[in-house]
Amino acid sequence: MTYVVTGNCQLCRFTDCVVVCPVDCFHADDEMLYIDPDACIDCDACAPECPVEAIYPEEDVPEDQKQWVQINADRASRLPVITDKQDQLPSAEERKKSLGF
Ligand code: SF4
Ligand code: F3S
Repeated sequence: MTYVVTGNCQLCRFTDCVVVCPVDCFHADDEMLYIDPDACIDCDACAPECPVEAIYPEEDVPEDQKQWVQINADRASRLPVITDKQDQLPSAEERKKSLGF
């Protein structure tokens, strides 16, 4: 099993999640983050930290977000690891509001 970052992270990228991960399994591009399924130990530390509830255990990813399971695996393997908190994207607060948080 693994945890998965889903579409709510796009345009937000708050990065609160990365600082609690004990095994450094978050990878980043300019849009959002992705979890390496081979590194994740299912500790559940990250999911409660996300202000827009973008992170799910694999088996709980909503039906309309299932594509993110494969996307996380593909992209995490070729993007750099991120372990430090960074500034959220400029669009983050507006996006958060539009998502209902
Ligand atoms: Fe890291 Fe734990 Fe989240 Fe997996 S569940 S990405 S190990 S914090
Ligand atoms: Fe994205 Fe949430 Fe982490 S917005 S960067 S999954 S805290």
